[in-house]
Amino acid sequence: MSLSPAAPAMQSVRDYLPLAKARLDPGIWRYLADGDGAGDEQALADIRLMPRPLRKLRGGHTRLTLLGQELAHPILLAPVAYQRLFHPDGEVASAMAASAQGGQMLVSSLASQPFDDIVRAASAGGGTGPWFQLYWQGDRARTLRLLQRALAAGCTAVVLTVDAPIKQATLQLPDHISAVNLEPGEPPATSGSAVFDGWMAQAPAWDDLAWLRGQTALPLLVKGLLHPDDAERAIAAGCDGIVVSNHGGRVLQCGPISIHALPAVVERVDGRVPVLFDSGIRNGRDVFAALAFGATAVLVGRPAIWGLAANGAMGVAHVVRLLRDELEMTMALTGCARLADISRLSVC
Ligand code: FNR
Repeated sequence: MSLSPAAPAMQSVRDYLPLAKARLDPGIWRYLADGDGAGDEQALADIRLMPRPLRKLRGGHTRLTLLGQELAHPILLAPVAYQRLFHPDGEVASAMAASAQGGQMLVSSLASQPFDDIVRAASAGGGTGPWFQLYWQGDRARTLRLLQRALAAGCTAVVLTVDAPIKQATLQLPDHISAVNLEPGEPPATSGSAVFDGWMAQAPAWDDLAWLRGQTALPLLVKGLLHPDDAERAIAAGCDGIVVSNHGGRVLQCGPISIHALPAVVERVDGRVPVLFDSGIRNGRDVFAALAFGATAVLVGRPAIWGLAANGAMGVAHVVRLLRDELEMTMALTGCARLADISRLSVC
């Protein structure tokens, strides 16, 4: 795989959007852009930050230790399904880019390349194995087999996504692209409600989360919680982290704006486990704002895929680099030398 240099015209993450759109088939672009994420972007853009000049910031940095892993910055690649839709190098390119930038990636259960190849790409870039995003597979036995495949490949944390038990497919996959790590097989036919007796009969419940906790000693996070009571319950089940997310507005229409839900979850969690955040991050200032409201780190979904579609691994790496540079700039202007210095006091 070649790493062609980033185009000099790309000075912000949004510069990648039109290039990605031009490169992708219109149906694939619609699948990527799908959802009601504009409110999340606007809410982040509306946050105002207080400049704090004259502080000595030499030696400042964006490093952190997250669940035992040393990261150069708090910007992780969100799990995004079927990445070969967007570029022939797919998840392998994203893994290489994340680790080359000293960060981390979450590999979707619906990845379009084998876990082994993705983990190998992350290691080649100098990183530890990516985190594995788990979608419940209808029952415990199937779920466990999928989990074991990801762990055997070398994934280093498990993130159970719980907010998308019902997701209407908006895209007919091309013949050459599929979720290659899943077992074949259709969900069983049901009588009764297609939702309650079909989809929801296949979805995990709290007792399944407690069971999952017992299946791995690796860090276990839950992605897609917005209510503080649910965060509390996830901690009680033994989870090591929460991802506050509305799935980029792609599941429940008119649900909460993700950044509006973050403070109450952070308050309830009260430092017991890290709280990660996603939905709507488009620049490094947004990363800073999420950290100011108590997130330990953020995930980015669509922006990384714009980079992937536009320029493969190099595009993803450049998107992460732009976000990190903008985060550093925002930290400098708000007088924060370290991530730990970022707080609600930075917001005005
Ligand atoms: C997603 N997301 C997602 N989440 C997940 O847990 N597993 C998955 O397989 C996918 N697949 C997926 C595909 C596409 C095309 C998109 C855009 C998103 C949701 C993703 O992880 C994340 O929560 C959102 O993308 C965050 O919002 P932004 O950063 O895209 O605004």
